[in-house]
Amino acid sequence: MSKTYTPEELKKLPFMNENLNIEQRVEDLLKRLELKEKFKLCAGRHRWETKPIDRLGIPAFLMTDGPHGVAPHSSGGKECTYFPVGICRAATWNHDLCFQFGKALAEEAREVGAHMILGPGVNIDRTPLCGRTFEYQTEDPYLNKKMAVPVIKGVQGERIAACIKHYICNNQEKNRYTYSAEVSQRALEELYFPAYKAAVEEADVWSVMGSYNKINRVYGCAHKKLLKKVLMDRWGFRGFVVSDWNATHLIDNPEDCIKAGLSLEMPRAKHYKRRYLKEAFSKGKFTEEELDEIVKRLLRVMFLVGIFDDPSTLPQGVRNTKEHQDIARKIAEEGIVLLRNEDNILPLERDQIQKIAIKGLNADRKLAEGGGSSAVKPPYEITPRTGLEQKCEDKIEIIDDVEEAEYVFLVLGLDHEEHNDVENSDRESLELPEAQLDLIDEVTEKNENIIVILINGSPIRMDNWINKVKAIIEAWYPGQEGGHVIADIIFGDVNPSGKLPLTFPKRLEDSPAHLTEKRYPGNEKVFYEENIFVGYRYFDTQNIKPLFPFGFGLSYTNFKYKNIELDKTEFSDNEKLTISLKIENIGKREGAEIIQLYIQKVHPKIERPVKELKGFKKVFLTPKQNKTIQFKIIKEALSYYDDDLKLWNVNEGEYKVLIGGSSRDIRLESKFNYKKQ
Ligand code: GLC
Repeated sequence: MSKTYTPEELKKLPFMNENLNIEQRVEDLLKRLELKEKFKLCAGRHRWETKPIDRLGIPAFLMTDGPHGVAPHSSGGKECTYFPVGICRAATWNHDLCFQFGKALAEEAREVGAHMILGPGVNIDRTPLCGRTFEYQTEDPYLNKKMAVPVIKGVQGERIAACIKHYICNNQEKNRYTYSAEVSQRALEELYFPAYKAAVEEADVWSVMGSYNKINRVYGCAHKKLLKKVLMDRWGFRGFVVSDWNATHLIDNPEDCIKAGLSLEMPRAKHYKRRYLKEAFSKGKFTEEELDEIVKRLLRVMFLVGIFDDPSTLPQGVRNTKEHQDIARKIAEEGIVLLRNEDNILPLERDQIQKIAIKGLNADRKLAEGGGSSAVKPPYEITPRTGLEQKCEDKIEIIDDVEEAEYVFLVLGLDHEEHNDVENSDRESLELPEAQLDLIDEVTEKNENIIVILINGSPIRMDNWINKVKAIIEAWYPGQEGGHVIADIIFGDVNPSGKLPLTFPKRLEDSPAHLTEKRYPGNEKVFYEENIFVGYRYFDTQNIKPLFPFGFGLSYTNFKYKNIELDKTEFSDNEKLTISLKIENIGKREGAEIIQLYIQKVHPKIERPVKELKGFKKVFLTPKQNKTIQFKIIKEALSYYDDDLKLWNVNEGEYKVLIGGSSRDIRLESKFNYKKQ
């Protein structure tokens, strides 16, 4: 009969001693657990929590969605700050802002009583049709890890667990519960792993969510090679793996999940029902040691988030504060991308305008609660119309007649409805909804000063109307402060600096995932035949002109790149190559520029992209201000994964440094040699 402790007795047990190190506390608690209690800890209840073990004072471990704000469905309906979505945050290319966001998100999670936030979402944008492109970050593995790591550090700095998702290759929503991503090891290593690897090695992420789909015919939540061998043994992941909700349902048995390293089946037991575990255990399908390995990972994170500690010693939670709203506004300010600005029509001079018109359904739509599990219920949401009305006040009249208006704002985009940027449903084309195309035709017939504002989270086809409009602002789903920021950008109170974190193709057929049906949508199997050639890696190597390239974004000022210098023309192992250059603001307004560094192997022995992002710096400059920028390159930046050798390799020879304001706007070049020691 297992001992029941009084609260006083519990307090004296080693695992309750905050002065002991985490591993000592884990070991002490683990050895006190009965077998059936270990089984109990392996599956959730009430959709968002683990089961408490009252005998030992183990409380429920609570988790909540989502990647850009605490969700109402997993916080008892709480109103929380609606931050700009993941793709907007990635378009800031701003590490510090990502950290601040993570910290704020954790403060809100703590305030609603959660111990873990189910985010960030980092699946690579392999196809522009993916329904959750808005939730994720980018097509590029380097930018992906650089934007994910600071978010995780910001979250976990508040002793809230981050849960990076969805591991791995959940790059489409179509058939998400069943498809198998048929993907090469090289593509995994060079494209799909980096954000997760960095999350473990650089941010010590405390949880990873196993994906619905299969990877090379094995379900994500039972994938021993990817979970145990890669995530845990190779990268050193010490946290716990949680299944996506109901992601274990098509897996054959519990032991495959246990042996793979799945600690927690959510939202409730399917394979991890205690009677199933008891039966499998009694038949020797798994050992208590294997069970202990997955249970102690969950216990470890419980200690890390302070679930047993005096709450007064933990970071306090806050929700819907002015500070959080300012962070939401800042992300929108730096993540919104100016795509077109013919005749420098923007920014508008408020004092010189009498009448404007605002058209389009997205002028008034409040979209925070759409999109699926990433929904947020904000205390308010400033729509584009409200933002513009507040900016115009009584100075500019907002009229209905588009012929009479001096400027017409067309607020277009998608709406988180089916096939329109929503979970569990991919888009069916890059087109805007038909009614919006008709509206563009109608309005552009009557007025030439059309400014399009896009509210969307994935690439839109524009070549059929782009030349009819003067300006295009890609505002993404810009969070609850979005309307204010859009108006600030239009009237010049904010100089846009966002840069596209993914390619906008001219036509869907130009995208590498859309060359054949096998590649997308596939069937039971989705063949990642494009291998490493995703996004600009494909467009630039094949020399296909995109509508807007990766890394593109306009500003109200201009920047001059000059004086590139390398501190050596040849370097080898253990050495660093320093690349320096000067950047000058040659325009009339202060602004930010994101300087991008790409590396190219000259005459590669094996197929390689013509360029790969290996560095970026965001600098804020006043007019005429100069800054010297430095990049440090080590040999890893030159490496590729060799599928034959089954290891990362670096070839000797000549490489190019390409520095620019986008993947297609290379301003400076230089060369160097790499020579093995
Ligand atoms: C959903 C999503 C996942 C989310 C979870 C809980 O199906 O795939 O991102 O965190 O279930 O809502």
